[in-house]
Amino acid sequence: MHQIRATVAPELERVNQLIIEQLHSNVEMVENVGHYIVDAGGKRLRPMLVLLSAAALGRCSDAHITFAAIIEFIHTATLLHDDVVDISTLRRGRPTANAEFGNAPSVLVGDFLYTRAFQLMVRLGDMDILNHMAETTNTIAEGEVLQLTRAGDPATSEAQYLDVITRKTAILFAAACYGAATLSSQDEQTRNTLREFGLNLGIAFQMIDDALDYDGDAAKMGKNVGDDLMEGKVTLPLIHTLRAGDAADQALVREAITSRNAARIEQITAAIKRCGALDYTRTRARHHHDLALALLAQLPAGDSREALARVTALAINREH
Ligand code: IPE
Ligand code: IPE
Ligand code: MG
Ligand code: MG
Repeated sequence: MHQIRATVAPELERVNQLIIEQLHSNVEMVENVGHYIVDAGGKRLRPMLVLLSAAALGRCSDAHITFAAIIEFIHTATLLHDDVVDISTLRRGRPTANAEFGNAPSVLVGDFLYTRAFQLMVRLGDMDILNHMAETTNTIAEGEVLQLTRAGDPATSEAQYLDVITRKTAILFAAACYGAATLSSQDEQTRNTLREFGLNLGIAFQMIDDALDYDGDAAKMGKNVGDDLMEGKVTLPLIHTLRAGDAADQALVREAITSRNAARIEQITAAIKRCGALDYTRTRARHHHDLALALLAQLPAGDSREALARVTALAINREH
């Protein structure tokens, strides 16, 4: 990650500066909560995708810097909201904003970040971007609601799961890459190639996230393991166990999902591993990683394309 970041270090620094500058508000609590989550870091993966896509297509402009900050603002807003909805207590190695300040400030400051992102977009003045981001954020909201309605339902299919993660996560990765191509005045075909690349990368990224929720290290991830089970969230490791596990393991998982109860997390993690559900999840993630790489091959060869390939590999090899 350090190596990849180094290839766009000055640009990323400008993005971080802009993020800090744009967190400014005369309302003290907005700044407090905003800085609380932004200063905790995070991988800055999505802004990096904007910068690297721009570089791979030619040049990273001022508009790309602004767009990268916009994407990170939207991502951060979804994290503030997501941690309230998921009742999560740890994020980026710190107590979540909802744990520290409460649910109401988290939701409202999330709204501030969302709307600030759209203010910045208007400043960019690109109607195609504005249109695409309006669609994207609307789809993310739908994805989170869809996930909410599916929680607690052990009948959730793999196709339904794929639909949820595409909407809630992959679509923002796709928008980061599509927007970068749009700001680089690329033709429709190239913009769509970048979009599909981001989409597959995002799907792989979320699948690994869902595997790590069972076999990750909380200290490394900076967030708790087992959060998904507590919410009765039916992710791929559980979906696979419900069809590949033995009868007892299937019953165990079904009961935990319906009762939204993580008390048996250790037994369930063992069941998931026993039937190869983590391997299956990682294999599906690798499939989307491979699709992403194949799309990348359509871009001009060079250091930035290589860096994008390394980001893609990192999405499936990561521990945090
Ligand atoms: C977390 O995203 C939310 C998911 C889509 C799984 P990241 O893992 O990119 O979060 P940060 O920004 O690095 O904290
Ligand atoms: C991703 O889902 C959240 C968003 C896209 C907002 P998760 O609920 O799995 O993300 P984490 O695990 O809390 O980071
Ligand atoms: Mg969550
Ligand atoms: Mg997760």
